[in-house]
Amino acid sequence: MFPCYTDQPTEKAIPIFPILEGDFVQWHASQEDRIKKWVEQTHFVAKSGAILLYPGVTGELEKVFVGIGSLDDWCVFGQLAVTLPQGVYKIHALPEPFSVDFAALAWGLGSYQFTVYKKSSPHKAKLSLDKESINLSYLHAVLQATYWVRDLINTPAQDMMPHHIADQALFLEKTFLAQVAILKGEALLGAGYNSIYTVGRGSVHAPHLIDIRWGDKGHPKVTLVGKGVCFDSGGLDLKSAANMGTMKKDMAGAAHVLGLGYVIMSLNLPICLRILIPAVENSVSGASYHPGDIIRTRPGKSVEVTNTDAEGRLILCEALEEAAKEAPELLLDFATLTGAARVALGTDIAALFTDDNQLAVDLMAAGEKEKDPIWHLPLYTAYKKLLDSKVADLSNASSSPYGGAITAALFLKEFIPHTIKWGHFDMMAWNTSGRSLGPEGGEANALRAVIHYLLDCYPTKQ
Ligand code: BES
Ligand code: ZN
Ligand code: ZN
Repeated sequence: MFPCYTDQPTEKAIPIFPILEGDFVQWHASQEDRIKKWVEQTHFVAKSGAILLYPGVTGELEKVFVGIGSLDDWCVFGQLAVTLPQGVYKIHALPEPFSVDFAALAWGLGSYQFTVYKKSSPHKAKLSLDKESINLSYLHAVLQATYWVRDLINTPAQDMMPHHIADQALFLEKTFLAQVAILKGEALLGAGYNSIYTVGRGSVHAPHLIDIRWGDKGHPKVTLVGKGVCFDSGGLDLKSAANMGTMKKDMAGAAHVLGLGYVIMSLNLPICLRILIPAVENSVSGASYHPGDIIRTRPGKSVEVTNTDAEGRLILCEALEEAAKEAPELLLDFATLTGAARVALGTDIAALFTDDNQLAVDLMAAGEKEKDPIWHLPLYTAYKKLLDSKVADLSNASSSPYGGAITAALFLKEFIPHTIKWGHFDMMAWNTSGRSLGPEGGEANALRAVIHYLLDCYPTKQ
């Protein structure tokens, strides 16, 4: 059980009443006089996110009222988890589509703290979970995965290098009997992964390709690929200090696919899963790759390095080609690939690139339900020419200041046959300030949306 919950009997728990902002006048009129007066005195009008503590006759906290904008407005429960005083609480259910499951999930997501390097006591408010009415195994799997993803992203690069990510993958091996195969250092060259090796060779920490397999071979094959750049200095095309500050998060794609693996395995989805993580440090040294180098990638295409800071696509392209060779039914990749995607969509919304419109519609709908927003951006082929090179089949970075997230996605597309159902997520994976569903720092983007989508496509047998 997570520290933010309790499964103690609920009789003594303080009830939280969500009040619809639009129903406030009617609700207020129907309350007993004491409540009416308290509401008036405190100027509570059930504005979305507003919280009202209501004392009982002896001064103890008797009830909590919270304003919600609509019946699917459950994020505020994340805020309640960190702001309510010590006590055990329970959620007063409302008619559908209000969901106690979602409210409890928000509570758990909002309660997260990164405590590895600085101890802090857990938030004092605990939510009482009614085992009968809540899907506990789902709640635990999603929370465990999200906490893991955030911890991995928040861990400083010094402690989250390629070999550390490999160690984390071994957790899936131990817990769920997944098979983990690792190629590292020179062995990558031996297997033809020139591009992964080249990006990682400037670092004292050897590049890795982590290959995880799990599930029944008879089940549909789903493959997930995650960008694992443990620190992105930009390479010789060095980033500015301002842009480098948060680049420990550049392995967030790797964290996301590990987190997804955790949920898929713990809920035992009928999937034959493969996870591929190219993990490197994009570092500066005498061994670093140079602007102007030409890489013979494993798939056969030559790539001119026009910018060593466009390293993500160089490691992903080889992993994606390897993934596509097995013709999975679904291939998804996750990457903190471009600053341009952040300029387009801000910090919260994951950019999705796919030629499969149905996949986009379904993932966006799942994202909306989960309050984990996704937006479909186009693989506009006319921009492909921005990746032309005079000396190689492709250049790794466009020289145009426009459409950078699209050209990055088009680069990846060059390595995937049209017949594959492929989706590429370009995300931020970082809250620049605290939100109701999570504090400042590492964040899982599109994770719950993809879990929701996978559960719809591959339901577990009850
Ligand atoms: N890891 C960065 C992209 C990034 C930056 C994601 C900030 C999220 C927040 C990536 O490796 C990168 O540096 N991309 C360059 C590409 C450019 C050189 C073509 C970028 O976006 O500026
Ligand atoms: Zn970069
Ligand atoms: Zn990067």
